[in-house]
Amino acid sequence: MPAELYRLARALSTPESTPDSPPEEQRPAHQKHPLARMLMIGVIASVIGVLICLQIDWFPTQGSTQADKIDTLYDVLLIVSVPIFVLVMTVAIYCVIAFRAKPGERGDGAHIHGNTKLEVIWVTIPFIIVSSLAAYGWVVLDDIEARQDSELVVNVTGEQFAWSFDYPEEKVKSNELVLPVDRPVHFKIHAKDVLHSFWVPAFRMKQDAVPGIETNTRVTPSQEGTYPVVCAELCGIGHSTMRQQVRVVPTGEWEAWVQDRLEGGDAPEEGEDPRAAGREIFTSAGCNACHTLDDADATAAVGPDLNMLAAVAEDRERDTTAEEYVREAIVDPPAFVVDGYDGGTMPGNFGDQLTPEEIDTLVQYLLGLSQTESGN
Ligand code: CUA
Repeated sequence: MPAELYRLARALSTPESTPDSPPEEQRPAHQKHPLARMLMIGVIASVIGVLICLQIDWFPTQGSTQADKIDTLYDVLLIVSVPIFVLVMTVAIYCVIAFRAKPGERGDGAHIHGNTKLEVIWVTIPFIIVSSLAAYGWVVLDDIEARQDSELVVNVTGEQFAWSFDYPEEKVKSNELVLPVDRPVHFKIHAKDVLHSFWVPAFRMKQDAVPGIETNTRVTPSQEGTYPVVCAELCGIGHSTMRQQVRVVPTGEWEAWVQDRLEGGDAPEEGEDPRAAGREIFTSAGCNACHTLDDADATAAVGPDLNMLAAVAEDRERDTTAEEYVREAIVDPPAFVVDGYDGGTMPGNFGDQLTPEEIDTLVQYLLGLSQTESGN
């Protein structure tokens, strides 16, 4: 048996179990105890590992008052877990290199029979670490999810493959999430079909949307800007396209937006380009999550390609005009299903989420586009 292995076995086991091991004094003075050497390498590697991890910019903008505490918690988790990973890997790699069998050596390894002291230590220390982190996480969560005064309530509904938002006090529905800056928001989250997960990475808070129950989360947006709203639960073929936007705006601008929604929404105003207005609705309503449309830079393929919509609408053998057909396709998707697609995929609530003026604008936009293109 190599002398190194003897020494490690001695270090790890009770003295009685290796009575024939060479006495400590036999080690040359310049040679460190293998355990001490391993520990030294591990500590140095841990410090380097922690420093590298803390240099990495893990998160997007801190868009809410919750973000700072979450990020600090994450840093603490890194500081604790990186050394554990590094120490385990150091022991493993060190042992593989230092104690590998010499060529031709075929004997048994050291017979080690447990070490109560060591076992008590390696159970107690992780227990203390995990319990402390759990307590810390609990305190942080309790703090950032606390109910606050003058909360804005927003109902969030997830379905394959779009989010929709409903402001019950303002009596406004929208496919775009718009929030006033610095006002606490209480999200009440629902799902219509399968599990989804409502997540605004800039706000840090993430909550599952579960059919049949209401889940909750709270954030206070603290920074104006536009951030992605994503679905963080694999929910079907269009999961990766289930992305929308949240706009955090000054309170006055938010109030104006609410007023605008109450008065008909994004319909083109005097002098506004109807095509730009249509494109805006197409994107903010989340149509781009499932459909391809060149004019709106949309490339998704869950639903039919809308570039050729006018031609498809013309070809239909039905007593409806192209406008009526497109309108029906938006508010009642299963009424006519394009070959090769599933009629149950598109949400059936666009008729509620969009105002009649918005639907008009969208219909004209979609038909106008392909007519312009086919006319070229
Ligand atoms: Cu909804 Cu993934």
